Amino acid sequence: MIELIHIKKGFGDKVVLHDVSAVMEAGKTNLIIGSSGSGKTVLMKCMVGLFEVDEGQIKYGDQNFTAMSDVERKPIRQEIGMLFQGSALFDSMTVEQNLMFPLDMFSNMRLREKKKRVNECLDRVNLKEAHKKFPSEISGGMKKRVGIARALVLNPKYLFCDEPNSGLDPQTSMVIDKLIHELTVEYEITTIINTHDMNSVMEIGDHIVYMYQGNKQWEGSSKDIVFSKDEKLNDFIFASEFLKDAKEMRQLEMSRGKQEGS
Ligand SMILES: Nc1ncnc2c1ncn2[C@@H]1O[C@H](COP(=O)(O)OP(=O)(O)OP(=O)(O)O)[C@@H](O)[C@H]1O
Ligand SMILES: [Mg+2]
Repeated sequence: MIELIHIKKGFGDKVVLHDVSAVMEAGKTNLIIGSSGSGKTVLMKCMVGLFEVDEGQIKYGDQNFTAMSDVERKPIRQEIGMLFQGSALFDSMTVEQNLMFPLDMFSNMRLREKKKRVNECLDRVNLKEAHKKFPSEISGGMKKRVGIARALVLNPKYLFCDEPNSGLDPQTSMVIDKLIHELTVEYEITTIINTHDMNSVMEIGDHIVYMYQGNKQWEGSSKDIVFSKDEKLNDFIFASEFLKDAKEMRQLEMSRGKQEGS
């Protein structure tokens, strides 16, 4: 479990995260949702240590990550895999070399073991034929899968994905979502995903944290989210015209149910 306790973070005079407390549940798919600019990426970067918080604590289990030095954080960092927005693959390296890179940097494996691990991870994301291709030669969805395979190569305990669906069509988005969810269950990973895609919330979200203007506005399960009475959350999840109609129909049904019940 990752615990966020009264996190504050700003840049100069601008406060981006005001006072965020939330929990990322162990072995689950945790989704951080919210409009553009609500602070999702900054929060994620604080969690992995790319940004330092101004106040508050981030705890990995009972370890206080915030209070640790870089050296003390190293074992936790090695358990973190990250899929960056836009995949962030190395353009001059083949798919295989992209996956080799973290193994060369952070493992003591022999070449044969490394190759085996690269193959395993590429097989797992259904990319058997892409080993020798360069990122420019593959589609956006395939790039995401390479990014996921690279995040998995060191066998992480925690997987962070910043907008894994950005730039993908709805069908490919669903394939990527399902893949991340399956991997979370299969390898018992604690996964944290930033998204503003409501399809992801309903398909794969076990635990949801809703961010609004740098505050945690709501936190709960995907079952509870549809019935939440939080106005701001409702405005976010029922943002499209179609869903607004659905919301009105739902309210109508609910008031009918009440009348019939009384
Ligand atoms: N390095 C930085 N320096 C100054 N301000 C920053 C920095 N990084 C982010 N911000 C500001 O923090 C706020 C939150 O940004 P963040 O990228 O976390 O939003 P987000 O919720 O991830 O949005 P999106 O859905 O568009 O990715 C924004 O107003 C942004 O301008
Ligand atoms: Mg972002």
